[in-house]
Amino acid sequence: MKSKDKSKQKAAQAAVNYIRDGMTVGLGTGSTMNYFLEELKHHVHSGLEIQGIPTSKQTAEIAKENGIPLTDFSQTTKIDIAIDGADEVDTNLQLIKGGGGSLVREKIVAQAADKLIIIVDASKRVAQLGNFPLPVEVIPFGWQKTAAYLETFGCKPVLRMADKHPFISDNGNYILDCAFETINEPERLHQQLKQLVGVVETGLFINMADMIISARNEVVEKMTS
Ligand code: A5P
Repeated sequence: MKSKDKSKQKAAQAAVNYIRDGMTVGLGTGSTMNYFLEELKHHVHSGLEIQGIPTSKQTAEIAKENGIPLTDFSQTTKIDIAIDGADEVDTNLQLIKGGGGSLVREKIVAQAADKLIIIVDASKRVAQLGNFPLPVEVIPFGWQKTAAYLETFGCKPVLRMADKHPFISDNGNYILDCAFETINEPERLHQQLKQLVGVVETGLFINMADMIISARNEVVEKMTS
């Protein structure tokens, strides 16, 4: 296993310790989360009783394959804890997410959860957000004009593609990956972008994470808000 994968696995294993019997657990999306689902599977098979709320069709599929019981918002709106990955984490626990294209559902689940734990390999930790292009989910209609508006905030928006066609989110929308290089005021930027008609949600997760579990090989570190 590559060192980065080992680190993702270590962070995921540390996060499973926060899951207790009877919890409803928000299940994020991405390769780090896949290690978490693998770990959770073993605990569920050993008798841990939880139900998961997946943040993507992909995670729902993997959870089902692993025998992890699932629920949804029609059954419960109380989420005890959510576990998710991230693309960048700064020293104030602010995040860029959405590299996997699931940012809207991830943010809905994160907002609903009593506690949000982010699991990352240590390479995701940065002094300042913005090196990773900020994913922004937009309504397909008029996306070109929405992109032009986004550009006025100092970024270069690129329409995310998948096999020569625009990538379509689980919500039927497009993603514009906005390269800012550095984001000085993440909260302000998020609020400004959210006001644009056509923007569904940004990948800036502001004041949402309660804990970051990051790992570099065997060494696991926790940061709390
Ligand atoms: C999914 O939309 C993202 O928010 C992921 O949480 C993020 O991209 C991290 O993914 P990896 O764990 O694969 O790096």
